[in-house]
Amino acid sequence: MRVLVTGSNGQLGLELAELLPERGHEVAALSRRELDITDAGAADRAIEEHAPEVVVNAAAFTNVDLCETETEAAYAVNALGPRNLARACERRGASLLHVSTNYVFDGAQERPYEPFDAARPISAYGRTKLAGEEYVMRLTNRWTVVRTAGVYGRGHNFVRTMLRVAAERDVLKVKDDEFVSPTYARDLAGGIIQILETEGYGLYHLTNAGSCSWYEFTREIFRLGNVGTELVPIPNSDYPLPAARPANGVLSTLGSPTLRHWQEALADYLEREAATAAAQG
Ligand SMILES: NC(=O)c1ccc[n+]([C@@H]2O[C@H](COP(=O)([O-])OP(=O)(O)OC[C@H]3O[C@@H](n4cnc5c(N)ncnc54)[C@H](OP(=O)(O)O)[C@@H]3O)[C@@H](O)[C@H]2O)c1
Repeated sequence: MRVLVTGSNGQLGLELAELLPERGHEVAALSRRELDITDAGAADRAIEEHAPEVVVNAAAFTNVDLCETETEAAYAVNALGPRNLARACERRGASLLHVSTNYVFDGAQERPYEPFDAARPISAYGRTKLAGEEYVMRLTNRWTVVRTAGVYGRGHNFVRTMLRVAAERDVLKVKDDEFVSPTYARDLAGGIIQILETEGYGLYHLTNAGSCSWYEFTREIFRLGNVGTELVPIPNSDYPLPAARPANGVLSTLGSPTLRHWQEALADYLEREAATAAAQG
């Protein structure tokens, strides 16, 4: 399969660019510099030039708090970007797989969110991402939308932040009443490729298995990383941020490829990070 990946320098983009050729697919991996998805003409030219069968949109404005104040820029990337790709795909005969988020839900529900549960975002990030999903669904016939959550990989992410902050402090307070299924970008990329290979169009929820609070996630990061910093669980209300987050951010992966448990994925990730650091001296 010939695949064009946007946002190829991001956490997911990097893994897709590496894994797709390993699985025998041809890939055109375009960074923001090579294709700015907010530019409709550029999106159309790139799809015409590379003639992919599938476009995977891994590009996004992912700074959730900044979306509250830079909403116009966030809307341009998270909503108009996928709209541009959808129109270009439709014109050029390519299908589109777009990546979205658990933040399209409000988090008030007790059970994990199914793909068919009603979206009700509570942040500008969630609203712009939902608008992007809607453009993709309305403007293309062969669409796939993959919602994921708590992604970490080779980039800015919660795991790296916690390890960095732990090195600077004796005590760390982390939210214990907000839940997620942390997801390793490499596993997410593998699941996405599986969906592409089956041509299973439609709406998916794709995360590593199991779930935890951010406090429990941090406790496991510290256990695996042999970090001695004391961890204190706190309620969300003790750590106000510009953007609201869903208290229950857990997705039900009904009908999606099964990814391994988040603890196993985290251990693998930390090992790979350590090996990379050792190789770099
Ligand atoms: N990270 C998470 O926890 C999380 C959770 C749920 C869902 N998701 C979704 O998963 C997908 C992948 O996220 P990720 O963690 O890989 O994000 P990421 O590491 O922030 O990567 C996003 C990439 O998109 C690029 N980009 C930004 N604006 C662009 C534009 N106008 N045109 C082209 N590229 C642009 C960024 O480039 P620059 O670095 O140059 O800005 C970056 O390389 C996104 O759809 C995101 O919404 C992420």
